[in-house]
Amino acid sequence: MYILAINGSPRGRDSNTDRMLQPFLAGARDAGATTDVIYVVDLDIRDCQGCFMCWTKTPGRCILQDDMKGVLEQIKKADILVLATPLYHFGMTARLKRLLERTLPLADPHIIKKGDHFSHPGREEHRMDMVLIANCGFPDRVHFKALEEHMCQLTKDRPGSLLASILCSGGEMLRFGGDGFKWYYDALRRAGREIVEMGHLSSETESILAKELVPLESFLNMANAFWDSKITPEGVEGNKSDFTSEEHFTGDSGKNEAGEKRIEQISKPNMLPRDCREAVMGMVMVFNPRAAGDMKAVLQINLTGEGGGEFYMVIQEGRCSVHEGKAENATTVITSPADVWLSIARGKLDGAGALMQGLYKVTGDFGIMLKMKDLFSGTDSKDEAPACPAGPLPIPGMMWLTVAFLPWIFNWIATGMELNPAVKWGVPALGSLLIWGYRKYYNSPTWMDSISAVYFLVAGVFALAGYPLSPAAGDFSGNLVLGATWLASLAKEVPLTAEYSRWNYPASLADNPMFLRTNAIITAVWGEAYLFMAVMVLMMNLIPEYKILWMVLRYLPLLLAGVFTAWFPDWYPAYIAAGGNKHR
Ligand SMILES: Cc1cc2nc3c(=O)[nH]c(=O)nc-3n(C[C@H](O)[C@H](O)[C@H](O)COP(=O)(O)O)c2cc1C
Repeated sequence: MYILAINGSPRGRDSNTDRMLQPFLAGARDAGATTDVIYVVDLDIRDCQGCFMCWTKTPGRCILQDDMKGVLEQIKKADILVLATPLYHFGMTARLKRLLERTLPLADPHIIKKGDHFSHPGREEHRMDMVLIANCGFPDRVHFKALEEHMCQLTKDRPGSLLASILCSGGEMLRFGGDGFKWYYDALRRAGREIVEMGHLSSETESILAKELVPLESFLNMANAFWDSKITPEGVEGNKSDFTSEEHFTGDSGKNEAGEKRIEQISKPNMLPRDCREAVMGMVMVFNPRAAGDMKAVLQINLTGEGGGEFYMVIQEGRCSVHEGKAENATTVITSPADVWLSIARGKLDGAGALMQGLYKVTGDFGIMLKMKDLFSGTDSKDEAPACPAGPLPIPGMMWLTVAFLPWIFNWIATGMELNPAVKWGVPALGSLLIWGYRKYYNSPTWMDSISAVYFLVAGVFALAGYPLSPAAGDFSGNLVLGATWLASLAKEVPLTAEYSRWNYPASLADNPMFLRTNAIITAVWGEAYLFMAVMVLMMNLIPEYKILWMVLRYLPLLLAGVFTAWFPDWYPAYIAAGGNKHR
């Protein structure tokens, strides 16, 4: 038996239509059939011209030269033709309809009476049964009515019959469900087998295939939350589709005011997940492929207590699917009481804050947790983090810390070289003022930029007025100011190092409590190191006999702080996430 399937979705192989079609055909092959799929999106098929040349001057042959010729040959051989389509405006897609119109050469022009109506006989009276496979966006099946009627009309006058209509409402769920819908795919496979073996579907298969993929309430919640997350915010250009691969994409998924209003009216009162399953599924619905990039991760989420469950998400190739159960190869494991997770999903609890408080635990690769907000934000258009602060100089954010130290480095070198005090203080004053001015003009100066500028300006003015700081006083005051600057930044919302390191992470991380606390500790370590250096400078001048000892002690904290800074940011968040703060 030869089964020819025609997939009419513009999304081609990445369509929900294909997700339904493939298991069906696999089942048919299990039962011994040979199968082929034609993806209409791949073909050059032009519109029927209505010239009737295929009936008059070139009987049985269309005058248009395109891919339809090959399609007709395949149709002529088919024992079963499967028409597979998404529902577009209550019918099949225009592409599929266009292809069907071009089958006119297969019909004979003469009009004959068939029962109570008239029709055209086929040129070759070969029997070909048909199967309809369709999915639609709405959750109710009533939308398929016109398509079903259309299929009846298409099949009633030719040898063969419509063996089955497999209709899936809420079909976009298939895109996200992974093998959460294994039961449905299994039924499709059984359907393929039954069509070959019995010529119809068993009532059991039929009733499974008629089930809704997810409960209606959940569907509405997830679908509307999904659209909410995907609608490009006002004023942001959107030109990439979340649904079609680039090769098929020709439209603009920009803002949609009508859609926004609709969602405002329908979804808002109903958007919160009601249970853990919905909360996890909801994450998948708002998964942001662009934030994921080439990330490969298996995120196991174990929700304990009443209403809990075990789920895992597989993230790879810019896709995320959710599954129930335990993954064998989880890269990150989240263990949370179900009520905590639900509160986070409902926006009542901040996820990062809850982690800091030890309300849930994370083990394994912690990197994904730092990207959580972006990964499950639906759209990243509002949150694309530039790696550099604004301005014409393409200096990465973290590199600005080195830039901020340039006046200091000059001053330290100048102290060793016993340069003219006006140069020693004037150049750093000018440099720090330039840095501060640049940052002020293009974005905003950091705490370090501001304090450095003030310190060097004051010292510079004194030096130019003929009252320069002595080398020892300059050395001491410099370290003192640095230490005080770094430690004082702890009183601010954003500790000093976070002002720089935030450029290495997604913008959404800037207010993440884990990120801020990690930076606060690093800032404190460096602040104390500078203060310790100031004390050592003092000791060098008070007890110069032990100069070597003071020198060693002076630079040792710098080395230790450097090693600490390289190690701590990776270790500490993972330590806290694994519940480390509970043991203190
Ligand atoms: C132009 C257009 C028209 C649509 N019309 C309907 C419709 O009338 N009823 C419906 O339930 N869904 C409608 N949908 C939604 C699609 O049927 C739904 O997104 C489907 O899952 C797409 O399947 P695919 O991935 O196989 O292309 C429409 C979608 C588009 C793009």
